[in-house]
Amino acid sequence: MNLDRKTFLRTAVLAPAALAAGAKLGAAPVADLPAFDAREPERFWQAVRELYPLTRERTYFNTGGLGPASRPALDAAAAVTAKLQEKCEHGHEQFAGHRKTVADFLGADPAGIAFVRNATEGNATVAVGLQLKAGDEVIFDDHAHPGGSFVWYQQARLRGLTVKLFTPDAGDPAGNVARIAALLTPRTRVVQVSHITAPTGIVLPVAEIARLCRERGIWFHIDGAQSAGMLPFSLREIDCDSFATSGHKWLGGPLETGVLYVRPDRLDAVAPLLVGSYSGELEFLPGEFRIAPTALRYEYGTRNVAAAAGLAAAMQLQEKIGRDRIAARGRELAARVRAGLARIPGIEVLTPSHPAASGAMVTFRSAKVPQDTLFTRLLKEHSFRCRPVTEQRINAVRVSLHVFNSPAECDRLVAATAKITGAA
Ligand SMILES: Cc1ncc(COP(=O)(O)O)c(C=O)c1O
Repeated sequence: MNLDRKTFLRTAVLAPAALAAGAKLGAAPVADLPAFDAREPERFWQAVRELYPLTRERTYFNTGGLGPASRPALDAAAAVTAKLQEKCEHGHEQFAGHRKTVADFLGADPAGIAFVRNATEGNATVAVGLQLKAGDEVIFDDHAHPGGSFVWYQQARLRGLTVKLFTPDAGDPAGNVARIAALLTPRTRVVQVSHITAPTGIVLPVAEIARLCRERGIWFHIDGAQSAGMLPFSLREIDCDSFATSGHKWLGGPLETGVLYVRPDRLDAVAPLLVGSYSGELEFLPGEFRIAPTALRYEYGTRNVAAAAGLAAAMQLQEKIGRDRIAARGRELAARVRAGLARIPGIEVLTPSHPAASGAMVTFRSAKVPQDTLFTRLLKEHSFRCRPVTEQRINAVRVSLHVFNSPAECDRLVAATAKITGAA
C-alpha cells in the first residue's frame, strides 16, 4: 500500500468527527482588524496590539529571542487540543492543511515542508543528515546562533569536518558574497548563513549566495530563525537547498514550533536523523523500509497537531495584517530607535542602516555604560525587556521591534537609554 492510499484510509476511518473538527479548527477565525488607514496608522496598530495577551507591565523588545504568541494563534491551538481530547484522537490528518498554509507562507512546495520542534532541530537535521566526511568543509557566519553552529562543531568532532567562518559584512551586502567566495575550495560541501544574524540583525543577501553555491554544486542552507515573520520572502525565489525557522519568534506561533524545508528534488541528500511511524512505510516485518517521498520523512511518532494549528493561525494573522506592512512597520520603528539613539553621545549602533541589510532589530552599545549594566537597568528601572548581546565580545543590547510595539515605546526606550548613560 503506498503512503497516499494509507493516508486516505486512515483519514477515511477517522472521517466524520475528526474531519469535521479539522475543517472547523483548521480554518481558525482570523482576528477582526480595522482597515488600515494611512492617515491614522496607530489606530490599526493598537488593534493589532490588542490581539496579544502580552502584559503591559513591561515593554517587550525581545521577539528575536522569543516572540509572544497572539490570541488567534493560542486560541487555535487550544481549540484543537480541546476538540481532540474529547475523543482522544491525535488528529494527524490535520497536518496536511497546516503544511499547505506553511508552504504557501514560505513560498515553497508542501512536499518540502516538515514540522520540527524549533530552528535548532531543522538546522541539525540538515547538518547531520548530509552525512559529510572527514576533510569536507562547511562555511558559515561567525555570528551564527548556537542553534546553527553547535551542530557543525559536533560534526567536526565526530566526523572530522573542517569549519570555516566568515564575519558578516555590516557595511555592504555584496561584501558577504565576496567573503564567502574567498573561503571556497574544492572541498567545500556546504555554505550556511543566518538569513538575519541574531547578534546585530544584519540581513544577508541569500539569493546571491544561493546563486554562488548553485554554480559550484555546493549545498546552501539558510538558518531563517530571525527572518520568517520579520520580512517577506519566497523560498522559491531565493532558491536555496534547505531552510529552517522557528515558529515561536517573529511568526508569533506557539512554543516548540519549527519548520524545516528541504528542496523536494534533493530530499535524498538529507538522511532523516530519526524515523518512525509517518517517516515511511514497512507493512510487515521483516521487510523493506521505504522512506516517505516527501519531507514527511523528517517527522515521526505521535505529534502535537495543535501546535501546527497555532502556527498556521499565526501565519494567517500575518497575512491579514499584511506581510509588507509588518516589514515596513518593523523598519519604521527601528529607524525611530536608531534616530533617537543617534542623538545620545557615546552610543554606537552596530546594525547596518543600509535598507537591504537591516530589518526590525537594532543593536547598540554605550561607550560610557557596560552592556550588562545598560541591559539590567533598562529592565529593572524601566521595564524594557531587551536582549544582551555577548556573542563575539560584541557587548551590546539588542532591541527587536514587532507589530505590537509602538512609536511611544521606542521614544521611551531612547529616553531611558539617555538617562542611564548620563545624557539626560
Ligand atoms: C539565527 C538563529 N538560529 C537559531 C536559533 C535557535 O532557535 P530555536 O530556539 O527555535 O531553535 C536562534 C534563536 O535565537 C537564532 O537567532
